[in-house]
Parts: sequence; structure tokens; C-alpha cells
Amino acid sequence: PDKIKGTSIQGKNFKRSGSFVTTSLLNQLSQIVGQAFSTIGIDASFGRTSLSQRRELGQFQCNGALGAAKQVGRNPREIAEQVIVELEKSGLFSELSIAGPGFINIRLSDDFLLGHISDLAEEAHFGCRSAHQSQKVILDYGGPNVAKAMHVGHLRATIIGESLRRLREFIGDEVISDVHFGDWGLPMGLLIKEIERAQPELPYFNVDFTGPFPEMSPVTVEELQELYPAASARSKEDPAFLEEARIATFELQKGRAGYRALWQHMRDISIAETRTDFDLLGAQFTEWNGEADTNDYIPRMMVRLKEEGYSEVSEGAVVVEVAEDGDKKKMPPLILEKSDGAVMYGTTDLATIEMRQDQHNPDTILYVVDARQSLHFEQVFRAARKCHSIRPDCHLEHIGFGTVNGKDGKPLKTRDGGVVRLRSLIEDAIEEARKTVTESGMSERFDTAELGDIATKVGIAAIKYADLSNQRMSNYVFDLERFTKFEGRTGPYQMYAAVRIKSMLRKAKEQGLNEGRLIATHDTERNLILALSSLPEAVKGATEKNAPNILCDHVYSLSQEFNAFYHECQVLGEPDEAIRASRLRLCAITLRQMEQVLYILGIDVPERM
Ligand code: ARG
Repeated sequence: PDKIKGTSIQGKNFKRSGSFVTTSLLNQLSQIVGQAFSTIGIDASFGRTSLSQRRELGQFQCNGALGAAKQVGRNPREIAEQVIVELEKSGLFSELSIAGPGFINIRLSDDFLLGHISDLAEEAHFGCRSAHQSQKVILDYGGPNVAKAMHVGHLRATIIGESLRRLREFIGDEVISDVHFGDWGLPMGLLIKEIERAQPELPYFNVDFTGPFPEMSPVTVEELQELYPAASARSKEDPAFLEEARIATFELQKGRAGYRALWQHMRDISIAETRTDFDLLGAQFTEWNGEADTNDYIPRMMVRLKEEGYSEVSEGAVVVEVAEDGDKKKMPPLILEKSDGAVMYGTTDLATIEMRQDQHNPDTILYVVDARQSLHFEQVFRAARKCHSIRPDCHLEHIGFGTVNGKDGKPLKTRDGGVVRLRSLIEDAIEEARKTVTESGMSERFDTAELGDIATKVGIAAIKYADLSNQRMSNYVFDLERFTKFEGRTGPYQMYAAVRIKSMLRKAKEQGLNEGRLIATHDTERNLILALSSLPEAVKGATEKNAPNILCDHVYSLSQEFNAFYHECQVLGEPDEAIRASRLRLCAITLRQMEQVLYILGIDVPERM
């Protein structure tokens, strides 16, 4: 059959040229149905069509006749009938019927459906870029802190942030990913003073000594991580120590040489440590900026805000009022400088916005940070708008997320009530994956090295899919046993589905079987194609709502439709050459799309398992 190109209904319509898909299948369909509505004198917007939940009735459904009937005061079934008459003229449909009070059920002709998927498959981005206007996006996620091991809270920030980064890149945005290291507040002063208590003989504490300071770091990362909790506890019991730490923070920020050198050491050690975690999770940052990188911007900003009347002094502190009339509860001001002169989390975040505006002039800045920081971000964003720190049309958004809980429903803690380290979570997941993988009999088929690689990929996939498949704002229970299962809505299951297709295609190659032109002989093939062609909608939804869970659902429905197809249809064993070649092509398209979506979710697919 001929491919449908430049198909039009009543002359003018969407353009399809060559193998370039200009709009998604659902959009095309809505346009065509809309055109039919408008031909009978009703607004085209009533043509909005959706994928049908009840496939036995139709592939798509349009409910527009009901709304239209209300508006124009006519019988909905009558409208639906007229629309169907118009649609039939196009020859694009194999079945059009009316259900109930006026729902239109639609089945596409195979020519239309196969033509569309063939075009889509040619495109590197499955038609997902065409409707998107490229933007410059800064993604702020990860957010580790100096001298503190990354903990379970950073897990979600990293996984969600990285997935949004990959998603944005996929649709053609220019993405800058910034880890925004926590390296400039009171914790720095606390650490300096704690180290001084333990090793006062080190040269860093001598004001008169200006360097050169010793090359080697005085502490290891493990020691650093013990120092902070100790210092923090001490500051709560000992006000004099807290005061000293405050002064040290202030002096560090003002540039005291010994403190700077020590701080630099701590920062370097911490960065090296967090890089390992980020590498394990596959997070890729284009910038390793921290709060401290705003230090040059802060004095200028403080002067400008004062001169232009945006900041004021309140109880000895410099603040920006951010309360607005409509607030349910009066929003407290953003504090920029405490009475002791030290700058705060809000100060560095506001200055970071000025720095980003200055260096990148972004269209959007997204912050993937725990939902419990929402007040902080609302204050910072309001201050940024009020003080003109950013171009007025730059979109600022806090992408919050819920907490990771233990099986008791409370935020995840270690057995003795401590903070769960990110590294140990990852290690536990890989360990659990190793068990599942071994139980599934893979240990007999692979050597130790490959088995280890598979277990690592399965473990990481398990955590990521479990995290991303939840609605971002809801809390979820961390349950490795469930996450690592090879069935249901899990990462390992999705991964396995892709690996199976991979090995089948490998076999086909070994047997010298080729792919060929798509034809449809079974409804499970058509349903799989429909699932494949709905990627643009999934990507759009995931982007607009910053919701990777929509992509998790998409990849799950892909594997479900693939399974149904694979259950009903022979592929390698199909005797008819044309059908076999078509099915091989369908498998290849499915694999390519699955791997693409899994990549966006941060899931690596091994060659075999
Ligand atoms: N370091 C912070 C924390 O651990 C997260 C930083 C988030 N990003 C930002 N621009 N404030 O809570």
C-alpha cells in the first residue's frame, strides 16, 4: 500500500513531507477530526481525540460531540453522525462508530498507522522535538554539602534532577547542570573550629601565617564526616564555641588566608567523594559551582540592593521584605546578612541567581530540592523578582519532592536512628540485586565480572525506577526486595524486557534474517504501534509537569504491549518472510524507543542477562 503523504481532508491540512513527522499521531488525528467538526460548522477544538482505554471499541475516542451539542443546542448523536460522514471521506479510517450518547470510536486504517510509525521511526527523537521551542535551562540538583556524606535526601535530588536533565536534552534544550555545592555557611566555621580544637598546631589557624600552606590535606574524608556532627553537637552545648564558629565563618568569607586554605582542602576532599556517588548514579554536571562561588557577587549585590531601596535593616540584620498582599500567612523576609555580618543560605541563593543571569542569561532555572525547602525558594524567587536579579521572563521553579521512608512509614533512618548514607543505600541495592540475579540462574551463564556488572545495573535501575515512578511530591517506602524484583512495575523488569528484545534481534542477525517494510496482520502489533506513537505526549507531559513518572508509565505500557504482541505473534519462527521482516522491524523500533526512554530515566541496559 502507498504511504500516506500530505494527506488532507477537504484540501488543506497538516503537512507531512518525506520522512519528517511534524506533529504527533494524536495531534494529527485531533486536527483531522477537528477539521471534520469545522466542516459541519462547529468549532474545530471539539475534535480533541484521545487514546481509547477500551481497545475493543476503538483505538481512539472523541467525546467532542457531547460538548458541541450543549453549546449549539443540537442532538449529540446527530453531530457525531455528521462528523463520521466527513471523516469517512478521507479514507484514513478503517472503522468509525458511535457509542452511547455520542462518543465517536475510531480505528485508523493500517496505511495511516503504519505510515505514521514508519516516519516516526526514521526520526532520531521520535517526533518529540517538533513541537518544542528550545530553551536555555539551568538545572540545580544534587546539592551535596562539604564534609557531609550525601544522604538519602540527596538521592531523590540526584535521580530526579538527572532524569530531567536528560529529558530536556532529549527535546533539544540547552541544559546547564549545576551541582550547587553547599560550601559557604556556618558549617564551614564549625568545621574550622573543630579541627583547630583537635590539631591547634596546624598552620591554618595562625593569622600571621599567610602561606604557603602544606599541600596535603590534614584530614581524610571519613574524619571530615565525623567532624561535622561533633562540631554541630558542640555548638549546641557550648555557646562560646558557636560564637567562635560564627566569627570563623565571617573571617573565612572575608578571605582569611589560613581558613581559606583549610576550607579549600575540605572542599576538594568532599568533591572527590561526591563524584564517586554521582558517577555511580550516572549524574552528569556541567558545572561544579558552590555557594562560595557567589562571594564576588555578594558585596556588589548588597550595595545595589541597598542603593535601589530593595533591602532594609531590621533588628540589626539586612533583609528583603517578600510578603505579598494575597499571602495566607505573612511570609517572613529573606535575610541577607545577619547582625554579625555573615551571609546566609538565602544570600548565596539570591547571588547565585544574579551570577547565573550574568553568566548564562537562562530562560528557565529549575531547582530539584526537597519539598521541605519550599518556603526558602519562594522567598528567594520573590526577592529575585523584586530586586530585578533576573530577567523578568525567566522562569524560576522549585521542583520539590517527598521523603523516602522506611517500612515503618517514617523517614528512612539507620538502625541506630542515624542518617542513611547514600553510598550504603546504593551498595545495599546492588547486594540485593546480586541475590535476585543469582536466584534467577544467571550465575551459571555468566562469569563473575559480567555478573557483577549486571547486578550493579540491576541495583541502580531498581532504585531509580522505584524513585521516579512515584509521583514526585509523594513519599515512598524504600523496599529493596520489591524494587529488585523482575516482575511488575520495577526497573529490573523494564530492563529485562529490553534485553530480551536485544537478544532476539541478535539471534535474527546471526541467522541472517533482515528487517523489512512494516505491515500489520495482528491487533497486538497495532496496539504496540499505538503505544510507540504516544511517546511525544508522554514526553510533553513529563516536561511540562517535571514528572518523570509519566515516562515510567510509558515504558511500562510499551513492555506490556510488547509482551502481548510477543505472546500472540511469532517473530523468528514466523514462516512468511514479509511478516517476519516486518515484525523484526517492529521489534527494532520498540527496542530503540525503550532504550531511549530508559536512558532518560537513567537506566542502563546490559547487552545480555
Ligand atoms: N545543599 C543543600 C542541602 O543539602 C541543597 C542545595 C539546593 N540548591 C540550592 N540552590 N539551594 O539541603
